[in-house]
Amino acid sequence: MVEETKLGVENLIYPIFLVNGVNIKTEVSSLPGNYRWSIDLLVKEVEECIKLGIYTFDIFPAVEENLKDKHASYSYVEDNFYLNAIRKLKEIFPEIVIMSDVAMDPYSSDGHDGLVIDGEILNDETLPILGKMSLAQAQAGVDIIGPSDMMDGRVGFIRGILDKEGFTDTSIMSYSAKYASAFYGPFRDALNSAPKSGDKKTYQMNPANKKEALIEALLDSKEGADFLMVKPALCYLDVIHLLKDNFNTPITAYNVSGECAMVYAAAEKGWLNYEMAMSEMLLSIRRAGADGILTYFAKDFAKMMKK
Ligand code: PBG
Repeated sequence: MVEETKLGVENLIYPIFLVNGVNIKTEVSSLPGNYRWSIDLLVKEVEECIKLGIYTFDIFPAVEENLKDKHASYSYVEDNFYLNAIRKLKEIFPEIVIMSDVAMDPYSSDGHDGLVIDGEILNDETLPILGKMSLAQAQAGVDIIGPSDMMDGRVGFIRGILDKEGFTDTSIMSYSAKYASAFYGPFRDALNSAPKSGDKKTYQMNPANKKEALIEALLDSKEGADFLMVKPALCYLDVIHLLKDNFNTPITAYNVSGECAMVYAAAEKGWLNYEMAMSEMLLSIRRAGADGILTYFAKDFAKMMKK
């Protein structure tokens, strides 16, 4: 009765890595317990998750190098393996919610979220590519478009295209305050998507800045974002709290790969109790103000709750 914060499986979104092919389940070495799945095996995994009460999935493609190019053009090829997988999942499990990732990096030969010309990431030239990617995802059945690229103006741009094409009910969860963080390492291993040169500091935020998060969130909100996300979560609990206090849209947080990897590693060494550490971490993110949390812990947390 007096507990102020409630945390349940319904607050969690499960990030999952998809790979082209059949009968593939490869563990991500820096993120033990997480795999790159081919769609045939992913179907079984999703079924298991649904039984545990997980209904919302964020799916990320690990794209073969030979399909990557400067313009990330594979991202909007209508029958690419990612879009096909989404169609299949929505057909088999109409009750699930699928969130996508919109950014060029998994498909880009430069490994950047935007278009790189002469060593520079070009903001405005990236928008049409993100627009095509978003539309292709909406057409495949994605419920929540997740722009993680941090280009300025992309939420409004994507919203415009979706609305014009009749996808007025497809929502946008914008990575609003996404910091240039050291904690994305295992994710980039999973997708082999690290930048080939330079870093992401010209578009992702400086970890020193908090007021800037308000500016980013305000812009995204005005452009039509349905959810505002803070990423990473743990080092940025103050930012989650700030956005929760200042906006009436749902606030979400991404408990990123490096944050989960720290707990996996310490638990493996016997230095931390896995279930206690992960629940405390997730609870703190909820307490800071996140309505939803994207976390690799989702399945283990759901299993623990069942117990
Ligand atoms: C792609 C993207 C990244 C993550 C989500 N979408 C990596 C990055 O920006 O370099 C990181 C997620 C995680 O670390 O779990 N733009």
